[in-house]
Amino acid sequence: MPKLKLLPSGLVLEAPRRANLMRFLHDAGVPVGSACGGKGLCASCKIQVLRGAENLSRPNDRELDLAERNRLQKNERISCQTKVLGDVELTTPYWAEDLVLESEEL
Ligand code: FES
Repeated sequence: MPKLKLLPSGLVLEAPRRANLMRFLHDAGVPVGSACGGKGLCASCKIQVLRGAENLSRPNDRELDLAERNRLQKNERISCQTKVLGDVELTTPYWAEDLVLESEEL
């Protein structure tokens, strides 16, 4: 199964191949911004890809449109529109070094 390494914490999660990136992270208890609930409207769920960009699905038309309107950097992906195909390293400005899965806080 593809491995997702989350930085700066170094936390590693295994995702089923072709998992929706945002849904998988949410289900694992990782905070990911979302104002539209994954409909590809808000760009709040953008995530920086540090390694393994080639191991994510190609941007669909909705993502390309959002990326242009929100001036996403080349290494940023709209996670709700992205499928995991292989190993990647990811980060966001709000993931801390001591990232704790929300599900572990309960
Ligand atoms: S959650 Fe709104 S675009 Fe992804």
